[in-house]
Amino acid sequence: MKAHLITYGCQMNEYDTHLVESQLVSFGADMVDSVEAADFVLINTCAVRGKPVDKVRSILGELRKLKAQRPLVVGMMGCLAQLEEGQQMARKFQVDVLLGPGSLLDIGQALESNERFWGLQFKDELHGHIPPPPAGKLQAHLTIMRGCDHHCTYCIVPTTRGPQVSRSPDDILRELDMQLAAGVQEVTLLGQNVNAYGIDQGAKLAGYPSFAELLRLVGRSGVRRVKFTTSHPMNFTEDVAAAIGETPAICEFVHLPVQSGSDRVLRRMAREYNREKYLTHIAQIKRHIPDVVLFTDIIVGFPGETEEDFQETLSLYDEVGYDSAYMFIYSPRPGTPSYKHFTDLPREVKTERLQRLIARQKEWSARKNAAKVGTVQEVLLRGDAHDPAFLEGHTRGNHPTVVPKAYGVTGPGIYSVRVDQATPHMLYGKLVDAQGQPLPELPRLNPEAAALTSPLQMA
Ligand code: 5AD
Ligand code: SF4
Repeated sequence: MKAHLITYGCQMNEYDTHLVESQLVSFGADMVDSVEAADFVLINTCAVRGKPVDKVRSILGELRKLKAQRPLVVGMMGCLAQLEEGQQMARKFQVDVLLGPGSLLDIGQALESNERFWGLQFKDELHGHIPPPPAGKLQAHLTIMRGCDHHCTYCIVPTTRGPQVSRSPDDILRELDMQLAAGVQEVTLLGQNVNAYGIDQGAKLAGYPSFAELLRLVGRSGVRRVKFTTSHPMNFTEDVAAAIGETPAICEFVHLPVQSGSDRVLRRMAREYNREKYLTHIAQIKRHIPDVVLFTDIIVGFPGETEEDFQETLSLYDEVGYDSAYMFIYSPRPGTPSYKHFTDLPREVKTERLQRLIARQKEWSARKNAAKVGTVQEVLLRGDAHDPAFLEGHTRGNHPTVVPKAYGVTGPGIYSVRVDQATPHMLYGKLVDAQGQPLPELPRLNPEAAALTSPLQMA
């Protein structure tokens, strides 16, 4: 069998794609990198906003056409598969295999079945399953919990991914050990709400560490860098900030979604915190981690959001001084309380606010990144940049970074970089040694051609 996987959505989905892919490989499948070369195409879907749902619909349309021309098995997994909306699509577009986020390990059974196979249960076996480490990569994801116990009124995830289940610390540390043995140097702990780790359905699990304790355990494992995403401010505790500040391996990077700066909107979103409480968390984070890089998620145009409410989001952005943000227009999702009870704002109002927020984010990212010029950053280089005379990677604070290759540094690894230029989205620099001295750069084969495609000019 030749299988091709297509992934939409968040890092949890990337992890799940890797998990299913490794199952497929263990059943003898060859992974191929195009639909044309495949006889099994599996789409890992996202349902959090309308856009990713529309994309899946259009791909399924294309795949149905292909199915009419040649033998092809089509599968759909992940969040959309769990919803009635996705199941209707599956019927319409003749999808053969449907796997919800809790049924991923049914993939073998699905392939053996000669009929349509739909797996939609949340199965416990998934939590103890340890996928093999990613091959030849410095970075790995590690899911520490699945599902979500919150009920934000806009969010479909509690429906698609079910209630929160924390994985056992033994399984997590065993998976981490295997990743380390395979050469992984940066691990990102994943969950819909990682800082509620060990508190499922409101009850503390016996023998489970708190999230801060787990962070410290992972931080002492020998891994060079630890990151985590995503956190809910409601479950934020100061000991997490302390653990980051005190543990060298844990990166000075916090992604704490705020969604809105207005108490009125936060209440209608059922976020369970207010602006003041959120700012208290930010103050604690800044106290424990002076160089922290802060990211957030913001939804603009939530039903009933007034211009004054939106101004409060802008002023909160300034008050925190985020390094960057993921910004979304509110997308009404069938099945959520806000879809049922509130009226969507006009499209123009939402897009106009988003543009103003993006402008504010760009100003802050430009300012924050400019302040990095002259500093030495630890950069994980993944490999060649667009121009093969350069390497690309990211800092401990997740800034995308590009450097020219140097003697001794022509491939992946973690290296020191002195930043010499910054845009709102990128840092550019030179490789330096432990004393901060620049490493001699490799001669470029054709300096004129290289100059034409220099990332500085493309930025
Ligand atoms: N509309 C727009 N954005 C949403 N998000 C979640 N649900 C919606 C929705 N209905 C955003 C939130 C969340 C991120 C993953 O997606 O900001 O943090
Ligand atoms: Fe999309 Fe949320 Fe599911 Fe991730 S968890 S794939 S963001 S709906």
